[in-house]
Amino acid sequence: MTSAWMRPWCAALGAEQISDTVELVGWVRRRRDLGGLVFVDLRDRSGLVQLVFEDDMAAEGEKLSGEDVIRVVGEVRARAEGQANTELRSGEIEVKVIELELLTESETPPFVVEDDVNASEELRLKHRYLDLRRPKMMANLVLRHRVVADARRYFDEMDFLEVETPILTRSTPEGARDFLVPSRIHKRSFYALPQSPQLFKQLLQVAGVGRYVQIARCFRDEDLRADRQPEFSQIDVEASFISEEDIYALVEGLFSRIFPIVGIEPPATYPRLAYAEAMERFGCDRPDTRFGLELIEIAPFCEGCGFTVLESAAAEGRVKGIVVPGGASLSRKQLDALSEFVKPYGVPGVLWFKRTPDGVASPAKKALGEEGVERFLAAAGAAEEDLLVVVGGREKVVFAALGALRLHLASEGRLIPEGRHDFLWVTDFPLLEWNDDEGRFFAMHHPFTSPRPEDLELLASDPGAVRARAYDVIMDGVELGGGSIRINNPTVQRQMFTALGIGAEEVQERFGFLLEAFRYGVPPHGGIALGLDRMIMLMSGRDSIRDVIAFPKTTSASCLMTEAPSGVDERQLEELGLKTR
Ligand code: AMO
Repeated sequence: MTSAWMRPWCAALGAEQISDTVELVGWVRRRRDLGGLVFVDLRDRSGLVQLVFEDDMAAEGEKLSGEDVIRVVGEVRARAEGQANTELRSGEIEVKVIELELLTESETPPFVVEDDVNASEELRLKHRYLDLRRPKMMANLVLRHRVVADARRYFDEMDFLEVETPILTRSTPEGARDFLVPSRIHKRSFYALPQSPQLFKQLLQVAGVGRYVQIARCFRDEDLRADRQPEFSQIDVEASFISEEDIYALVEGLFSRIFPIVGIEPPATYPRLAYAEAMERFGCDRPDTRFGLELIEIAPFCEGCGFTVLESAAAEGRVKGIVVPGGASLSRKQLDALSEFVKPYGVPGVLWFKRTPDGVASPAKKALGEEGVERFLAAAGAAEEDLLVVVGGREKVVFAALGALRLHLASEGRLIPEGRHDFLWVTDFPLLEWNDDEGRFFAMHHPFTSPRPEDLELLASDPGAVRARAYDVIMDGVELGGGSIRINNPTVQRQMFTALGIGAEEVQERFGFLLEAFRYGVPPHGGIALGLDRMIMLMSGRDSIRDVIAFPKTTSASCLMTEAPSGVDERQLEELGLKTR
């Protein structure tokens, strides 16, 4: 018998192995009986190979069914003339079986294990181990491994140390809800699972590690989406004696190493866009720049235009629009649908203007007159057959509505060029963000992010205007990562807490250990965390990070396979000093 480690992978067999006798193990994917001749596709992690059972082996082959686990010994031979399967890596050859061992039989699986699966995602998640057998899913795991292995090599070459940080810890400042773990020993006390290793990676800089990296598991109890899971992984980075430029170069170097694995060649350096400009042009701080449809300033044309809706929107807030090339052909129903689309963002709808061979049209034509409509179209640079859609209201709402509408229009109109990938840095984020509900400022990133030194004096007088030394790296409209240069000056840190309205006692309670550490020689430092799951999602061209996580949770944060979260024994609760209500 061959050593298990020397045994070939099914899909690795090719013309070079013709005439070799090989031992293979794997799962029966499909059996075809041709009377005295049986073909079986054998599957392992690498993919498929065709087995042939003929002559007196045919009867044995006939006994096999889907997902049985077998071991075979056979001879590799070229497929008959014209029988090669170009879709299979091993498609030029087949293996004529001379020995078969049925290791375990399989029951009929709840769905057919193949790439073109039509089972619901629910059923696939319940039987995730079967779902992962599908070559496309397995390929995602292989890719993820490759990326992590190459990333580790890259950081090792750059003298980074991988250091593990605790999972049972206390609340970290990322701003989502914590997952809590009750302590048995300390009744009424709880650990929090880390939302990121943020404070620990900063403490490692105080310790003198200098360059830290970790493939870190993070936990956040937040509303889930296609690109959000309650537990996810970051390539987490922190370093001392560095600036923003060092982080940009480090990440660009990393991406140049790993994206080519899937044939994506990022540029050597990425364009940079200030947050304020990103919002004005794209309505979004993670803009997808692969297509146009940029937001246009409309307010200057509204004053005294004669249409009160626009006049008051411009006077009290913002009015911006998008020109949709060729959009004049949209039907009334399609235009109404655009209004319905933006309503959830808090605007009453879109106002549209268009120029057709028969003249101009707009619901505002009565108030504005032919000429008025013409003026808006000309001001926005709309050509014949184009459509101008306009939204007015509070700035935040206008950006959100048009930012989302822009993506919607691009996807409906198929405006995203196939195979194009855009990488960019968004910089100069505001340090603080006003929260209407709580009536106070929150840190946009976290409270240890450094303000830009030139904006420091605004921290007391106009906190909302202070820019942070924070940056996000964006690919194709997805935020792949974010980070910042941190505060390492106790006075600035105190000013920051004051601006956040966090009192001395709360500071001491939540972050006392970090501030204490900072008293004993803190190097200037900063870092970034890259969302590993999102990176693999984009690299594999999937729409959901669930596809690139071996055992993900549903959007309602449960695991359909293990049925977590679940109830627990009374006894366990008692030990923890807990009662459920
Ligand atoms: P941030 O909160 O921006 O920064 O997170 C960094 C990156 O992690 C990914 N990410 C997620 N991926 C999947 N599911 C989630 N729920 C989820 N939340 C975030 C994103 C994001 O860009 N400690 C700071 C980093 C720093 O300052 O160095 C942090 O965690 O890709």
